[in-house]
Amino acid sequence: MALQNLILLFFSLLIIVQFPSSTAQNVVKATYWFPDSGISASDINSTLFTHIFCAFADLNPQTYEVTISSSNQNSFSTFTNTVQQNNPSIKTLLSIGGGSSNASDFAAMASQASSRKTFIDSSIRIARSYGFYGLDLDWESPRNDSEMSNMGLLLDEWRTAVANESSESPLLLTAAVYYSSVLNSVSFPVDSIGNNLDWINIMAYDYYMPSWSKVTGAHALLYDQPNRISTSSGVDSWTGSGLSAKKMVLGMPYYGYAWTLVDPANHGIGSAATGPALSDSGAVRYVDIKAFIQNNSATLVYNSTVVANYCYAGTTWIGFDDVEAISTKVSYAKGKGLLGYFTWHVANDDNWVLSQAAYSGWN
Ligand SMILES: *[C@@H]1O[C@H](CO)[C@@H](O)[C@H](O)[C@H]1NC(C)=O
Ligand SMILES: *[C@@H]1O[C@H](CO)[C@@H](O)[C@H](O)[C@H]1NC(C)=O
Ligand SMILES: *[C@@H]1O[C@H](CO)[C@@H](O)[C@H](O)[C@H]1NC(C)=O
Ligand SMILES: *[C@@H]1O[C@H](CO)[C@@H](O)[C@H](O)[C@H]1NC(C)=O
Ligand SMILES: *[C@@H]1O[C@H](CO)[C@@H](O)[C@H](O)[C@H]1NC(C)=O
Ligand SMILES: *[C@@H]1O[C@H](CO)[C@@H](O)[C@H](O)[C@H]1NC(C)=O
Repeated sequence: MALQNLILLFFSLLIIVQFPSSTAQNVVKATYWFPDSGISASDINSTLFTHIFCAFADLNPQTYEVTISSSNQNSFSTFTNTVQQNNPSIKTLLSIGGGSSNASDFAAMASQASSRKTFIDSSIRIARSYGFYGLDLDWESPRNDSEMSNMGLLLDEWRTAVANESSESPLLLTAAVYYSSVLNSVSFPVDSIGNNLDWINIMAYDYYMPSWSKVTGAHALLYDQPNRISTSSGVDSWTGSGLSAKKMVLGMPYYGYAWTLVDPANHGIGSAATGPALSDSGAVRYVDIKAFIQNNSATLVYNSTVVANYCYAGTTWIGFDDVEAISTKVSYAKGKGLLGYFTWHVANDDNWVLSQAAYSGWN
């Protein structure tokens, strides 16, 4: 063997030894997509993301198997191929559950070893047969200490089963969780999360809603006074509970909430309001907020103290994240040493403006 070849072999081995196919992640720039969200998978500009969550698979409440509804069969089975057309290195994950799924069913599944095994085995089978690179638990949310500790057991067994596949590319395991590590005085199973998940998606939004708040609110503000809800206080609680920053992916909303002002002349954050505007819940997609501003020549404000945007015209007031809030949060996440960010949800963007701001904010 020529010396050159030996040297080549030596360096190849060195590379293999130094860089095993580990699960260590580079920065995560992720988003969620679901059918009927307004765009099809082929419309997603996948060059702007490293990971995409395909939402949602379901939990069968009788058998505890993970299933994909018949209406989602086609779009889910082609999802990975479709989004990889323009970005072959993008990784897809299948999200299970979601905000409108039944938390009691997840609690029941997690309470017994046999149903946990059914859930786990079926989730891995589905992920592999549909070509996903990972699985995302969207159990929203465990409600007391026993449910939280059962979630911990579920994650222990899920990781064991994924490792037991002995695949060169083990499935990624993630979970979407509350903005804080403590929910109604109950702590998440932080040790199990740290040991078993690749990361958590921190749902850092919906702090204020017009359905119950009688004053206007920035529903995803980054900073506030001590003892008031904010994204930074949530991240601090996760850090304080012992979770590594490298396991945290910060959520950002592509939507806002519209309130009806009591007095159009009183239009700051915290102004008196009578209830929702523009939709039943007041929720408005970012793309529609931009159209509202255009149509009504609304005044657009960025409050850099709390890191939130809002706009108003007449008696309508909308709190949301525009380019400034998104960019500042991405800088914050990077500065804090987090793993990355995700957005909910991709179809609400306006001509990729927010996705581009987020992407270019973290190099
Ligand atoms: C997708 O994003 C890239 C990167 O920002 C951009 O260059 C490209 O024009 C976008 N494609 C579409 C179809 O918007
Ligand atoms: C959730 O599931 C439980 C048990 O199956 C059921 O009793 C309850 O009514 C369900 N809740 C909703 C909101 O569907
Ligand atoms: C936890 O909460 C669930 C749902 O509210 C309830 O069924 C269960 O009994 C609770 N467990 C404990 C130990 O409080
Ligand atoms: C590990 O894999 C083997 C062979 O596929 C299987 O029989 C066993 O049940 C698996 N164990 C776990 C804990 O998933
Ligand atoms: C930003 O919002 C905070 C909280 O409502 C408020 O106290 C502050 O005056 C605002 N700053 C500006 C420049 O509007
Ligand atoms: C903005 O105006 C366009 C054109 O009249 C209309 O189709 C759209 O519904 C309006 N959107 C909002 C949010 O006001």
